[in-house]
Amino acid sequence: MNSALCRYSMRSALLLPLLLFLLLAAGRDVTGEEVDKKPNFVLMMVDDLGIGDIGCYGNDTIRTPNIDKLASEGVKLTQHIAAAPLCTPSRAAFMTGRYALRSGLGSAGRVQVLLFLGGSGGLPPTETTFAKRLQQQGYTTGLVGKWHLGVNCESRGDHCHHPNQHGFSHFYGLPFTLFNDCVPGHGSCVLADLQHALKNLTMLLGVGLVTMVCVRVCGLFEVSLWLLVPLSFLCILATVVWYVPFMLLPTWNCIIMRNQEVIEQPMTVETLPQRLLGEAQIFLKRNVDNPFLLFFSLAHVHTPLFNTPAFAGKSRHGRYGDNLEEMDWIIGKMTETVDSLGLADNTLMYFTSDHGGHLEDANLLIGQTGGWNSIYKGGKAMGGWEGGIRVPGIFRWPGRLAAGRVVDEPTSLMDLYPTLKYLAQDTQPDRQLDGHNLMPLLEGKAVRSEHEFMFHYCGIYLNAVRWHPPGSDSVFKVHFFTPNFSPPGAGGCYDTKVCLCHGEHVTHHNPPLLYDLFRDPSESRPLTPDIEPRYSEILKQTARAVERHKSSLTNEQASDATQSHVNTAASSVQNQMTWNKILWRPWLQPCCGTFPFCGCKEDTTHM
Ligand SMILES: *[C@@H]1O[C@H](CO)[C@@H](O)[C@H](O)[C@H]1NC(C)=O
Repeated sequence: MNSALCRYSMRSALLLPLLLFLLLAAGRDVTGEEVDKKPNFVLMMVDDLGIGDIGCYGNDTIRTPNIDKLASEGVKLTQHIAAAPLCTPSRAAFMTGRYALRSGLGSAGRVQVLLFLGGSGGLPPTETTFAKRLQQQGYTTGLVGKWHLGVNCESRGDHCHHPNQHGFSHFYGLPFTLFNDCVPGHGSCVLADLQHALKNLTMLLGVGLVTMVCVRVCGLFEVSLWLLVPLSFLCILATVVWYVPFMLLPTWNCIIMRNQEVIEQPMTVETLPQRLLGEAQIFLKRNVDNPFLLFFSLAHVHTPLFNTPAFAGKSRHGRYGDNLEEMDWIIGKMTETVDSLGLADNTLMYFTSDHGGHLEDANLLIGQTGGWNSIYKGGKAMGGWEGGIRVPGIFRWPGRLAAGRVVDEPTSLMDLYPTLKYLAQDTQPDRQLDGHNLMPLLEGKAVRSEHEFMFHYCGIYLNAVRWHPPGSDSVFKVHFFTPNFSPPGAGGCYDTKVCLCHGEHVTHHNPPLLYDLFRDPSESRPLTPDIEPRYSEILKQTARAVERHKSSLTNEQASDATQSHVNTAASSVQNQMTWNKILWRPWLQPCCGTFPFCGCKEDTTHM
């Protein structure tokens, strides 16, 4: 017995240190992992959503319980600013952390967003996105939903602008966007007036041709073949020019791709919400064990509005409200998935919109079809007015951010790039960025935004400047010009649905229009030297900031002195929004099957 005891104690004497060692080693492992464990990112961007559409931003008739919950569990930004009031430039700036002008996605003329998947413009291969940076840090990166930053450069299948080339190893969704042409009977959004003109011209030519043929056949007059032949030719040409690119828009633009393969053409819109949500959820489940970035870029709440039976007729704001409440439900599902996978504490979730609601978008049949921008003036495609650029911004990260914080300081969608970089511990050198790391503000470690100045662009033209002077609550905004919003029928923004940024489409202000957003958030009472004692100082400070900003645009030459607020496209950066790059080219058109008879359906039996 004695010896047994002895043996036992000897064994325990050996075991104890071993156990301790193992425990310590395990302990070190756990802490080591915690330090190294990089956070996940779920970025959710809604299309065309207005800041006034959301409950926690003051809407009391629309139900957005899931978004409101996200805000109450996290940080809500009240002055979150998009770099442009339109999809393509705003998304380019968001992805790159830089004003769209720096990547050639600012427009000098009529067309301000990419119009055809068969065009050659898009986010240049030389640009760097936050996805690419995170990928280099070992992240699994995915984009589910809308891209709208181009596909090909020189041939179908070079995919030079494709999400896969810009840091997303997984892509499922719309390389273009959801738009009216995708659903028959909703009209067309693409150059509607040009389409009309072409159609009328074709009809006129046709009528002329038929008349002359009749006249010749009936022998009333002698109609020369010299007239008939060219006219017939013109007629055919006009039909081809009008019919091919425009009538086939749904086939050309409404497609779904999985990575580089076109899997549905034209797409079935009805099942899109479910499919996008399903893909996003699968991505989360697949990546529970490694750091990931998911950019979930929703097709909601762009027109034509989805008409999902479960939500149809349920809201108090017609079809638009139904759509919005469906979007909120989807956000709820995403949060639920993150939580149920046990990822909440290590996942930063972000909710925003690419720009403000499209105020003048309404339809005789269903009424409101665009978003609501609350007290803010203007909306989508209306230059620097606040309604088009101030969007919801919510960050939720229970493991790191206090619940219920509200940040009123100016922040930008371009801040995501440096914030993600910082959190992924990416310290590699980078290009000139226009965003700032948001973590100090989100964590409450800083009370002032690093954005003392912000520049608001209308195409490539510097439209307005925002100044938040140190030590002051004021947020001054100086407008150098404003888009002409004429009454319906006068050919202004209202008729084209999009304000233009140049020439006779704008009114220049000298001295500039000045507002203090802190006292007058709806930009309704311009300040004068009598009312605002700092008037001349504000103009001087903002002018200096503009000079500094301009000199930061590498190789950008400010054009002639008469148009001092115009930035010509950078000489080193090719402008991506010229007619040449925008217009449809058969050899660039993504297509499944044999071109031009593109057509395929996604196999959804497994879903
Ligand atoms: C709430 O949102 C709906 C839908 O956009 C809008 O019509 C309504 O005016 C908003 N209400 C408020 C109080 O902002």
